[in-house]
Amino acid sequence: TRTPVNVTVTGAAGQIGYALLFRIASGHLLGADVPVKLRLLEIPQGLKAAEGTAMELEDCAFPLLQGIDISDDPNVAFDGANVALLVGARPRTKGMERGDLLEANGGIFKPQGKAINDHAADDIKVLVVGNPANTNALIAQAAAPDVPRERFTAMTRLDHNRAISQLAAKTGAPVSEIKKLTIWGNHSATQYPDIFHATVAGKNAAEIVNDEKWLAENFIPTVAKRGAAIIEARGASSAASAANAAIDHVHTWVNGTADGDWTSMGIPSDGSYGVPEGLISSFPVTTKDGRYEIVQGLEVNDFSRERINASVKELEEEREAVRALGLL
Ligand code: NAI
Repeated sequence: TRTPVNVTVTGAAGQIGYALLFRIASGHLLGADVPVKLRLLEIPQGLKAAEGTAMELEDCAFPLLQGIDISDDPNVAFDGANVALLVGARPRTKGMERGDLLEANGGIFKPQGKAINDHAADDIKVLVVGNPANTNALIAQAAAPDVPRERFTAMTRLDHNRAISQLAAKTGAPVSEIKKLTIWGNHSATQYPDIFHATVAGKNAAEIVNDEKWLAENFIPTVAKRGAAIIEARGASSAASAANAAIDHVHTWVNGTADGDWTSMGIPSDGSYGVPEGLISSFPVTTKDGRYEIVQGLEVNDFSRERINASVKELEEEREAVRALGLL
């Protein structure tokens, strides 16, 4: 029998946590033959609700689930972690300035990064979901100097999946026929969903669509503002789709991208495509054997360049702001 993989989930009692944990336990994160142990991290006020969720997990009698631990101490929750899903974050509340938001999240992601540094397993892989995800990942990474930098990633897979779905609707193709879509930049309203290298049933997507006005005025804003549209419709922010994207992100990272396709991940830049080194920015990546590589050699046209630069500029400003707060 295989040794179980320790999966730590923060914000376990939140709405994404509730949509996420059952799918991890049923084998969707890592594979249908990989046993898991769950480590749930919550703040003290969230512990009771996390215990309730743990009771429900037990009641599913998942064959792959080999244990659930709950803690409000990051040093305990990240002990031996192989995969860490950092979901819990401080949301922006009314009247809160960006600086206040970054500082409040620094208070969460810095100690969590340190706990990962000191206690996680050598093969730890980290996905940051909690917003501002890219910059929270940077803060956690900076607090974990002993962990290889590339193990800290931020989630843009929900944006990637949203863009695939919008492109499928526009072209009438099934989602399974859409490949090589890219999200560039920050997981925010400045993100750039790029279809210039995407294919629809093997043909270039931008040529099939052949409508730059639709791209600029419909597709890009629809993808970028989808989170707000969900809140407007549902009265609550996206949770099941965010959980699904987190599952997809880790599953692809661990199990690889298909031949002829790639995915989008927020990862530390190596300077590719003019993105300053070290920023955690979304790129097109292929994955294999638990490692990812940026897809190289793509031609970036003026339409794309302008939008990538704008999102990267925002990431640089966020990095400056957290640096000024002493978080890097
Ligand atoms: P939620 O408010 O329902 O749950 C958050 C949970 O985190 C709460 O139970 C809270 O007690 C817990 N928490 C807060 N601080 C914590 C800490 N220091 N340690 C452990 N747990 C802590 O929020 P929801 O809907 O589950 O969303 C979570 C985050 O995911 C938010 O920041 C949201 O903006 C972000 N998000 C990111 C997306 C992406 O595409 N990257 C998509 C959707 C949401």
